[in-house]
Amino acid sequence: MTFLSKYIVYTRFYRLIILYSIILHTVRAGFDANAKNNVAVYWGQGPNQERLSFYCKKGLMDIAILSFLNKITPDTAGFNFGNACWGPECPLIAEDIKICQSLGIKVMLSLGGDAYYGDFNLESDSGGEAAATYIYQMFNLKSNAPVIKPFGPDVQIDGFDLDVENYKQNGQIALYKKLRELWGDDPLLLSAGPQCPFPDTNVGELVETGILDIIFLQFYSNPSCNMIASNAAFSKSWDTWTNEFEKIESLSNKKPLVFVGLQGQQNDAWHANLSYITSQMIDKKSNKFFSGFSTWDAVAAYNCIDISLGKKMDYLTGLKYLASGVFDNAKVNDEL
Ligand SMILES: *[C@@H]1O[C@H](CO)[C@@H](O)[C@H](O)[C@H]1NC(C)=O
Repeated sequence: MTFLSKYIVYTRFYRLIILYSIILHTVRAGFDANAKNNVAVYWGQGPNQERLSFYCKKGLMDIAILSFLNKITPDTAGFNFGNACWGPECPLIAEDIKICQSLGIKVMLSLGGDAYYGDFNLESDSGGEAAATYIYQMFNLKSNAPVIKPFGPDVQIDGFDLDVENYKQNGQIALYKKLRELWGDDPLLLSAGPQCPFPDTNVGELVETGILDIIFLQFYSNPSCNMIASNAAFSKSWDTWTNEFEKIESLSNKKPLVFVGLQGQQNDAWHANLSYITSQMIDKKSNKFFSGFSTWDAVAAYNCIDISLGKKMDYLTGLKYLASGVFDNAKVNDEL
């Protein structure tokens, strides 16, 4: 063979491998606790958002985090899913949860959100337990207490996330312990979204208990540890947290699944592009706690067209490929 034909054969072969690896990695739909290429996406607050099922059907996310159950006190619960539903019942979301779950996607409900718009204050351990009880009554199918079930009588969500920003940690641990107790043998994923400065002052105490299955660690909006901060701040923060996860694992005998949380909004000052994330994650993806990426939020990430790798692709696709190792070899970029 001439050099040229060898080159062409090689290039074609290479292209095939890339295609194969993309297909292989993206066909796997749904959350896998043992995988390192999970993508979790917050949905519920984006402007002009499409229905939840629209994003689930794209096959790019493995966990949908509905946001938010934003009013939680010892005796009230209220939610706000932006243009999708304000309650008291959300039949369209219920229908979509079923569609997402049938695709293997876990659907979790996030508690908290922006302190300005919500009211999250459990006050005490007994307040946390009281909140767990009415959350159970609203969202667990086994409860037949006479309260409105926002997702109807036949949709059960897969778990809860705690994403609060009001520095009120009282009652959080009691809330999660009680939820576990009430859920009994039913599967239940519990997560929280700490900010990257260590220790976290919103959900840090909860993280330390080892009760969490998943941690959506937010590496944005914080100058000291943001992914695009200078002076290797992100790497330092990652090391601090992973050391902490080691301690938590040895105390609780449970390995938390850690997601690197990123801002999906393209024009946000803390948004990191795909090329940059690839370079930052190259030595971190093999860490035993790393399970994938989470991003805020579905609308922003889907509408964010990233060209940093030389090809146009939306951020959700990019995060899925990145976590799947598709960009690990720089040459791959030319071939996509
Ligand atoms: C990607 O992000 C990095 C770090 O912020 C920046 O230096 C680089 O110019 C960006 N690339 C593109 C194509 O925007």
